[in-house]
Amino acid sequence: MRVDDKTDVVASLILKSERVVALTGAGISTESGIPDFRSPGGIWSKYDPEEFSFQRFLASEDARRRYWEFSRDFYPVVASAKPNAAHLALAELYRLGKLHCIITQNVDGLHQKSGVPEDKVIEIHGTLMFVVCLDCGKKYPRGEIQKRVEAGELPPRCECGGVLKPATISFGQPMPAREMRLAEEAATSCDLFMVVGSSLVVYPAASLPLLAKRSGARLVIINLTPTAHDNYADVVIHGKASATLQKIVMLVKAKMRENST
Ligand code: APR
Ligand code: ZN
Repeated sequence: MRVDDKTDVVASLILKSERVVALTGAGISTESGIPDFRSPGGIWSKYDPEEFSFQRFLASEDARRRYWEFSRDFYPVVASAKPNAAHLALAELYRLGKLHCIITQNVDGLHQKSGVPEDKVIEIHGTLMFVVCLDCGKKYPRGEIQKRVEAGELPPRCECGGVLKPATISFGQPMPAREMRLAEEAATSCDLFMVVGSSLVVYPAASLPLLAKRSGARLVIINLTPTAHDNYADVVIHGKASATLQKIVMLVKAKMRENST
């Protein structure tokens, strides 16, 4: 089936669904200038993911210093990034009442910047927008700590003397219980689950499309390259998220107009 026909099929699925849920990954933010992880030239082609595990971070001051040096340089790229047409298309689907919520693996806050309400974005890998103390739990706005780190405080420390870490979930770090519960509830209660821009290789996030499918939902995957779960999907579109989602939203609106006349 041609991509055009598939976008039409997806638009029809969205129209007749009662509850649509999206799961996004780093691929939805590459067109905003934020590199993904596993594409050629992605973050894990430059850095060893082992180096950024939670165990390493806890193990030594030196590991925390290296982690914070990376984060110091990466944060400005994220902070200055703007939502791209893919984020805006999902935000428009939400405004049309055709998107219940977005589960995201991303920590860049771009879904919220695109206008989707905070409580409709489930950040299962946390967020770069805050920093937390692993000892006393105090939460700091990232901007405040970024200034201190750029001034040379490496690694930054909490006023209690505790260890500060960006509020993201690193490999080996426990998943946020509340967000995972919300994500599983969303996956099991939707009738259409749309994956956008994820290789679907990191668990438990990658189990959500399968959970949705097992719960009776249709599964759509929109990704530049094949993913680990393409064979479970009802529709797979290998293409850019922005062009594909813009097309789909245009078709949804056209069908809504047709139905209303
Ligand atoms: N449009 C559509 N898909 C894209 C685009 C684009 N413009 N750009 C990249 N992609 C696809 C890539 O082909 C790739 O398959 O997005 C996918 C991104 O996959 P990953 O880099 O593995 O990112 P993600 O799936 O979000 O990784 C999950 O792994 O390292 C951890 O915590 C990190 O949240 C991240 C998790
Ligand atoms: Zn503290």
